[in-house]
Amino acid sequence: MKNMLLEKIIKEFDVPVKRMRQIKKAVGSEMDAGLAGRKSSLAMFQAYCDAASGREKGFYPALDLGGTNFRVMMVRLQGGKKPKVLAEAKYRLTGEQISGTGDVLFNAIAGYLGKFMKENKFNSEYGLGYTFSFPVKLLGIDEGILMKWTKDFSATGVVGKKIVELQRHALTSQGLNNVKIVALANDTVGTLQTQAVEDPNCIMGVILGTGFNICVRVSSRRIKKGVGDYSGKCMIINMEAGGFAKALPFTGYDRQLDRESGNKGHQFAEKMISGKYLPQLARLLIVDLVKKEGLFGGRVPPVFLNKDTFQAWYMDVFETGTEKEITKLGRKVFGKVLTTEERIVLALVCHAVARRSARIAASIITGALTRVERRSARKVTVAIDGSLFEKYPGYSRMLNEAIRELEGSAGKSISTKLTKDGSGIGAAVIAAVVSANR
Ligand code: BGC
Repeated sequence: MKNMLLEKIIKEFDVPVKRMRQIKKAVGSEMDAGLAGRKSSLAMFQAYCDAASGREKGFYPALDLGGTNFRVMMVRLQGGKKPKVLAEAKYRLTGEQISGTGDVLFNAIAGYLGKFMKENKFNSEYGLGYTFSFPVKLLGIDEGILMKWTKDFSATGVVGKKIVELQRHALTSQGLNNVKIVALANDTVGTLQTQAVEDPNCIMGVILGTGFNICVRVSSRRIKKGVGDYSGKCMIINMEAGGFAKALPFTGYDRQLDRESGNKGHQFAEKMISGKYLPQLARLLIVDLVKKEGLFGGRVPPVFLNKDTFQAWYMDVFETGTEKEITKLGRKVFGKVLTTEERIVLALVCHAVARRSARIAASIITGALTRVERRSARKVTVAIDGSLFEKYPGYSRMLNEAIRELEGSAGKSISTKLTKDGSGIGAAVIAAVVSANR
């Protein structure tokens, strides 16, 4: 194999600091436009709550819907200490539940919640927090309209509708009367809140997993499109950062991925950053190398014929696995022992794609930091959840390095913190914040 195309790809997927600065700057202006209700690739949805004070207490159930795994939890908040998960259940939604009708989806969720409450004998009255990790325009803290589906969800009759109303209807029809949905939130907001309970410097929540998104705490004065009857000085904003589309380093591969995706023309940043799309990008790069440079003997291996069969964890192994792990996975995925050249090319391609993701994410995060309302001048905590940040080898290091490249010595005041289960626990925290304010 000649290596010209590989060299070109690696160069094309590098994001020099100059480009990172352009992205960072564009994020600031898109945030301002979104907060003013002007045209912007950042939706900047109001979350109608401020960061938790840390004094929240009590028992709160939480529903967490953001991917095929759906969770129910009962959380005990203990005023400034780590929230305690008293019971938790995970359910896998079926294809029919995700892409059938909205009724099927919301009834399934109600059914699982009912089962959970019954099995655990939670019989009192509860205020529930609902994390719904899709682009939802909140109308207040406990209602919102789904603007579009992402991450392959497509249940009909939900886009443009009130989510809580649909879910409440399903709860009532199943006789679940002791649970009232008091808060609706995005997973980024849940992640911020989970960290804020223990750490007052937390003013940003980020998801780097199947999807990508950021929420920020901003001064209410910045929100020119209005805050309704919300009276807090600061409000958390769900940026829907996955939709960001300015100054990004588009390649032909990104355009091809977008054309072949279920939501063409949307979620451009998410398609360069999140765990759902990185293996799809790696696949496009490899297929090009097979066709143009004769990699894999010039024949596309079956695992690359379909856009979803090459999985994110394969990338981890091919990039940094041990000799033994790579041989084993090579046999499983390609049905053979990989040649040294194939192994090197796979590793380089996976690394290029993951590193570009981390550098673009860092640019968007630092861009968002230019508009936040800090709680302390000296320190900020960025709470991050998601499999990419938690598990992809070297990802958090690459992200932090890129943040330092962009921020110089000011970067020292920024710490990124893995905040696990934020989307579940955080919903309970928000329910508690709401209940305390009532
Ligand atoms: C959704 C966001 C969500 C993110 C992470 C995106 O696809 O649009 O609302 O926060 O995924 O789950």
